[in-house]
Amino acid sequence: MAATRIVVDIPEERPYDVRIGEGILAGLGEKLVPVLEAQPPSRILVITDANVAPLYLEACKQGLAPLGCPISDITLPAGEEAKSLAVVGEVWNAMAALGLARDSVVVALGGGVVGDLAGFAGSTFMRGLRVVQVPTTLLSMVDSSVGGKTGVNLEAGKNLVGTFLQPSYVCASTDVLATLDEREWACGCAEIAKSAVIDSDDFFFWLSENAEALAARESDVVAQAIARCVVFKANVVAQDKTESHGVRECLNYGHTLGHAIEALSGYGTYSHGAAVAEGMRFAARLGQSLVGTPLELVEAQDALLDELGLPVLDWSAPAQDILAAMKCDKKSRGGSVRFVLPSDVGQWQLLSVDDETILEHLKLYFGE
Ligand code: GLY
Repeated sequence: MAATRIVVDIPEERPYDVRIGEGILAGLGEKLVPVLEAQPPSRILVITDANVAPLYLEACKQGLAPLGCPISDITLPAGEEAKSLAVVGEVWNAMAALGLARDSVVVALGGGVVGDLAGFAGSTFMRGLRVVQVPTTLLSMVDSSVGGKTGVNLEAGKNLVGTFLQPSYVCASTDVLATLDEREWACGCAEIAKSAVIDSDDFFFWLSENAEALAARESDVVAQAIARCVVFKANVVAQDKTESHGVRECLNYGHTLGHAIEALSGYGTYSHGAAVAEGMRFAARLGQSLVGTPLELVEAQDALLDELGLPVLDWSAPAQDILAAMKCDKKSRGGSVRFVLPSDVGQWQLLSVDDETILEHLKLYFGE
């Protein structure tokens, strides 16, 4: 199948391409030559992690060779712990020691952690270098590599420090997904399901028809799912680049409970996607009470998540603890907890919900 090119065109930003296709890492440099031609880089820095480096770092550097400049690399420890200010400090110092200049380019080769951290380091070093995203997980291909959020975690919470920097180019080479385990695959599928529910009937029904094929990683369905998510996200970000116009929040569907589950169960116990899927099941039920979500949607979404390998979690906690965790999340505002609720497929509302209503529904959902 030929590669797909999607242009992300955000007001006041230079439009950039997201390319999706099998084996396209090898041609990365050729595609980047015209993208970077206004200021050809004097050096490229590839930032990756210890899981990805042995698999794809050499291929990435070879792919970049047509740019004809020195290529350095930094390998971070794998995992969420790397997304810290301490590690960013090390990366900044390494950038200075390597002699990176204003014309240098950072390539983020990895999943969401690498993309966020490399994006943050790149967007702040010398007040901002150009960043190219090369996502290697399904989750980062369908969500975090597009839209320009970067960040690191503080002890007080995840992603509390960050910037918005749109990448110069995104290369989603789908062959690299072959090395993902089942948990990581399902994690990405949850964000695809989230996008489909929020986007449209067309995406939701297409995904419901193709859920088995996506779970089985059929390549044309995988590429189409990524492309549909990128088109959806590009459209959302074009309307609300900095999540300040009440549009980009739709991407947080399922995340209010999802983040609370991740925090209470201990980060890493469940994948981000598994927690978001549970949050989507809960939000749809809350939506039945508050915004008239049809039962058909609740049931169709349950069936979709089941088929994608995202069963109901064997987890619960006291409703008060879950509510307290929701209030700690950076997405709450002044202590009030906000939910993205689907009033139907492709229609959603952002609602601040009072504590009593949340507690009542948590008790109903978790059977307390
Ligand atoms: N991952 C949500 C966003 O980019 O806004």
